[in-house]
Amino acid sequence: MRKRVAILISGRGSNMRALVEAARAPNYPGQIALVLSNRPDAAGLEIARGYGIPTQVIDQAPLKGQPREAYDDALHAALTTANIEFVCLAGFMRILSTAFVRKWEGRIINMHPSLLPAFKGLKPQAQALAAGVKVSGCTVHYVVPELDAGPTIAQAEVPVLDGDTEQSLSARILETEHKLYPRALKTALARLTP
Ligand code: GAR
Repeated sequence: MRKRVAILISGRGSNMRALVEAARAPNYPGQIALVLSNRPDAAGLEIARGYGIPTQVIDQAPLKGQPREAYDDALHAALTTANIEFVCLAGFMRILSTAFVRKWEGRIINMHPSLLPAFKGLKPQAQALAAGVKVSGCTVHYVVPELDAGPTIAQAEVPVLDGDTEQSLSARILETEHKLYPRALKTALARLTP
């Protein structure tokens, strides 16, 4: 049985598209059953609709000032209502509460555009340039309560070239993200007990 996977996005959705494309293969172990965004204007929502995938928005704006758990309870309810078994964060720019992460532990993964544990948090590509490293890359890891700190599932190196800008390095890493994420999801799904 193919596992029902939700992809959480906040913006462009290019990693989401890569996962959707991979999951079209008949032998892929997951089916993308839901694309959910915290922002109604996320461009990736339109892409998902184009593939005929159910989409949902849980707008964070009206919940501003409320505890993080208020949003995360709504998110958990949406995922369980859709019978989601596994969650991929793909440019989902919200920190998730410990309570939420515990509910999904082992069944929620994230793509981060650096070679973790280097350059956690925001703007990892700019952090890599500022540090002067010659190699960066991307990491798919399990989500744990501590930000960008969960066990690694897959990682790929990307060279940093002379004259790179944040934009050029980000674009080079992104190409690799698109290849890595479908592989990593397949690995993580294979580890689930049936
Ligand atoms: C990707 O580079 C992803 O790795 C990064 O945001 C971008 C989303 O692009 N995620 C993070 O930085 C998470 N901390 P996309 O919407 O085109 O997939």
